Amino acid sequence: MKRRRAVLLGVAGVLTVAALIVLSPGFRAFRRQEADRQRAIGLGCTEACCAAQAAEAEDDWRSPRQADACDIYYYGAEHLAAVDRIRRTIAEAIPLRPGQWVADIGAGQGALVMRLGPLLAPGGRIYATDIDPAAIRLLEGLAASGPGAGIVVPRFVQGPRDTGLDDLPEGSLAAIYIITSVAFEHGDDVEEDVAYLKRLRRLLADDGVVVYHTDWVDAHLLDRDELVALFRRAGFGADVRDIPLPPGMPAETCYCAAKGDRGEPRSARLGYLLAFPKGKDPAARP
Ligand SMILES: C[S@@+](CC[C@H](N)C(=O)[O-])C[C@H]1O[C@@H](n2cnc3c(N)ncnc32)[C@H](O)[C@@H]1O
Repeated sequence: MKRRRAVLLGVAGVLTVAALIVLSPGFRAFRRQEADRQRAIGLGCTEACCAAQAAEAEDDWRSPRQADACDIYYYGAEHLAAVDRIRRTIAEAIPLRPGQWVADIGAGQGALVMRLGPLLAPGGRIYATDIDPAAIRLLEGLAASGPGAGIVVPRFVQGPRDTGLDDLPEGSLAAIYIITSVAFEHGDDVEEDVAYLKRLRRLLADDGVVVYHTDWVDAHLLDRDELVALFRRAGFGADVRDIPLPPGMPAETCYCAAKGDRGEPRSARLGYLLAFPKGKDPAARP
């Protein structure tokens, strides 16, 4: 009888431990990531092609050879025209006038800078920031000649939540563009993210806008509603505008996460393009 009770207790103990493991947030996150990885592989992005990319590439967006390594990698060749259309949509998202100042955060190779330059000349300014010194060198080239000449002001940022713009006068920018650059992820320090957005908000004119675009949303990134909630916490207005992305992009893709993650295949859904109005000063709200 005693033995039977001991066995029953043992079984109950094992079942309890198993249930605790299965229900634990860590195990659920592991299962989500594993399902995501399997979906990515189903989309044509295998661990082998990710390893090849990681070995080959210095960087994850400048090497065109990377796109060949996977069947789909962010954009297949047939989607590049759609990417260009997205940049055009972004440049037209809000009306700009010659002489206005804007910022392009994470300006990269300057795809947007080149579109905005003609709209702001003469007398305008595009503060083009980047965290990568190689991008800053490219932007310095654009500042010297081409549609950005005399308008582009490159600014190197020291870390992911350094705006590089804190010295600008309050209210001096008509728009701030954050286009597939600064990522807001689950698990980030929310207070730090809110403080960063508040510093950007301070720079906007009263009718100024942050235009934010992420091309893809994976399990790590905030989805549209979560991002809206984050901006609201930083004091941005409630009348957020969803700008439709032009057609031609697939609804889903796969990509290989950064080298540090050993090029792990992940799946991602098509992202969003949002315009966040500065909104009234929270202190002034009734
Ligand atoms: C995919 S490229 C996009 C370039 C450009 N915005 C466009 O859409 O064509 C991302 C760029 O953002 C830069 N970047 C990433 N995080 C950043 C941050 N927190 N602040 C400034 N630049 C950042 C990267 O160095 C890179 O040049």
